[in-house]
Parts: sequence; C-alpha cells; structure tokens
Amino acid sequence: MDCCIYNASGPKSGHVSDLVKVGTSRAGAILSKSATLERRTGNDLPRLKKIDVGGSEASINSEGLPNAGIDYYVGNKVLEGVVATGKPYLVSLSGMSLADNLEMLTRVAAAVANGAQIKAVELNLACPNIPGKPTVAYDFDQMRDILKQVTAHPEFAASELPLGVKLAPYFDVPHYDEACAIINAHADRISFVTSINTIGNALLVDGEAEMAMIAPKGGFGGLGGSLLKQVALANVRQLYTRLVPSIDIVGVGGVATGQDAFELILCGAAAVQTATTYWLEGAECFDRLAGELEGIMARKGYTSIKDFRGKLGVFDQSKVVKEPAAAAKPKATKGGNDAAFWQLSTASLMVAIAALLYREFQHMQGA
Ligand code: DHB
Repeated sequence: MDCCIYNASGPKSGHVSDLVKVGTSRAGAILSKSATLERRTGNDLPRLKKIDVGGSEASINSEGLPNAGIDYYVGNKVLEGVVATGKPYLVSLSGMSLADNLEMLTRVAAAVANGAQIKAVELNLACPNIPGKPTVAYDFDQMRDILKQVTAHPEFAASELPLGVKLAPYFDVPHYDEACAIINAHADRISFVTSINTIGNALLVDGEAEMAMIAPKGGFGGLGGSLLKQVALANVRQLYTRLVPSIDIVGVGGVATGQDAFELILCGAAAVQTATTYWLEGAECFDRLAGELEGIMARKGYTSIKDFRGKLGVFDQSKVVKEPAAAAKPKATKGGNDAAFWQLSTASLMVAIAALLYREFQHMQGA
C-alpha cells in the first residue's frame, strides 16, 4: 500500500460508487462492507447517529449488515470500478453462520480463480448488531471452531489470498491471551488481525424525548469514533505483544486525525482504518489524514512507519514535554480558590486604607 490509512468496513462501503471514491482518494486500500451470503436490507431506521463529544465526533450504529450480498462484492460491477482506481481491494465477510462463511470463501476463491483482483479477505467475527446473534469474538469456543474450519477451507487456501480476522474490543487480560492463542495457532494462514470493532451494545439516550436515539434492538448499538480511541490503542498494544510477528495488526477506532493514526502505529499497527470519520467527512478524509500523518513523521524525522511502529515506550519522567508557560491553563479548583483568597484580601486592604484616609481627612477638616 502507498498509504497505510484506508476505510473500515462500515457505513459508506456497501456500494461501488462509495468504494470508487475511497479508491480515488489517498486511501491506501479499499475495503467492502461486510458481506453476507444473501443481500440484506438491515435493521430499521434510524440506525446510525452522530454523537457530539465536546469537540470530537463519535457514533452509534446498529445497521444490521445491510449489504448487496457476496456475489455483488466479488462480481464484475464492483471489481471493474475498484480495480480502475489502482488500489488494492479487500473483501469483508460476516456470515450469519459458519456454513455461510465457508460458502462465501468458496465464492471468493472462485472469483479469484477467474481473475478477480481481490487482494485479501477480512473475516469479521465482531458484528454486535444482529438480533439474537451474540458476538463471535466473545465466544472463544465458536471462534476456535470457525478459524479451524476457515483456515482449512481447501479452495480458499489454494487461492493464497491473505486472510485477516476482525476482532471485538477486549477489556480483560485473559481474553487477550485466549484470543491470541487461538489466532497464533493458525499463523501459517492468518496474515492480519483488525482491531477493534465497535464497543457493542451501547445506548444513546434523548433525555428530552425520554427515548433511545436509534430504532433497532431497543436502541442498543455499536459505539464508534472518538470514544473508542483509548480502547483501540490498548487493544492494538495488547495484541501486538501477544501475536506472532508474522501477523500484522490493522488498528481502527477513534481515528480522526493523523495524530490518532500515529499513536495506533506506535502501539503496533501496520495499517490504520477509519469508519466514523470517513462516514462524516467522506473520502476526502483520507487526503487530510495522510497529510497530517506525513507532517508528524517529517517533524520527527521518520521516513517510514517502520521507524516507529510498535515502539511505544514506558512512562519516563525525563521525557515529559513541558507545556509552554503561556499555554498553561489556570488551575480550576485549588488555583481558583487561591485567586479568590488574594482578591478578597486585596479588597479588604483597600477598604482599610480608605477608612484610614477618611479619618485623616476628617481630622484635617476639624483642625
Ligand atoms: C455492522 C456493524 C458492525 O460493527 C460490523 O462489524 C458489521 C456490521 C452493521 O450493523 O451493519
């Protein structure tokens, strides 16, 4: 890839016109919406909402996998469009069952055997939005079984397409250990891990109307955007320290600036995706993000992401960058109280001086 930033599988990745726009921007690759075996219209509207978080943007979604079906994403119409952009095209799969995933791999392999320019498959094990279907990445027995069968799929193996696995966010150390052990057991076949999907089953509330703000699943949906950033950084870092080095990590979650991309790479990501920013800003975001990341790298004297990938240090007091004095903010509480104390003292002093002067003045009048 010329650029390490591209779109996540999510909003605005379901139609060839969206995918072509990604391909004609500075994005390094084009990733399809997660495909199912059959086309789906998805959950009821509204199912996607922006969340304003004091100057940054987050989102909640419960789209329910609206997509045109696997045959569309490996078919001529999409392939002609994306291939013309010259960018690598990746297909995301999110089958409703193991059997569906295996069948979709058969169709991907058949398309590749017929010359389709598909460069990789991202198997999504983390969709939280299908009513009645738990998130696979949180059920390690199911995840183990799926990966065993997917990596043993004969036609797909013969296609030699790189296989990636998209994970849900984890929050507990034993879960990182278990997920990575399952994935490392297939290191001969799994080339990359994408982390993180949305934080599933969040709730956005309209307090005035006293209701949930999206319609599906009683309002529960996946949380995306800026609210994810620190969880994404942590997940990328934890995976980076556990996965075998041949498995790359694609970082995703809260990427709204080149700085966010830089930090994910510092934690170990080899590439970075963005969903909420792309949804809100359109494909122009990739030009901005790439430019911002290049700016940071130039300032630090880096010519390749290899110069800093994974090199996050531990806290070191001697490296703390001091804020310039002019930019230092007044302390909110303690400092505020100190200031009030001095203001009160000065005022009392002035009243006392005024009273003395007045007495002196009266004496002079009397004299
Ligand atoms: C959807 C949401 C996801 O987080 C995902 O990984 C796949 C699909 C959706 O609701 O369409």
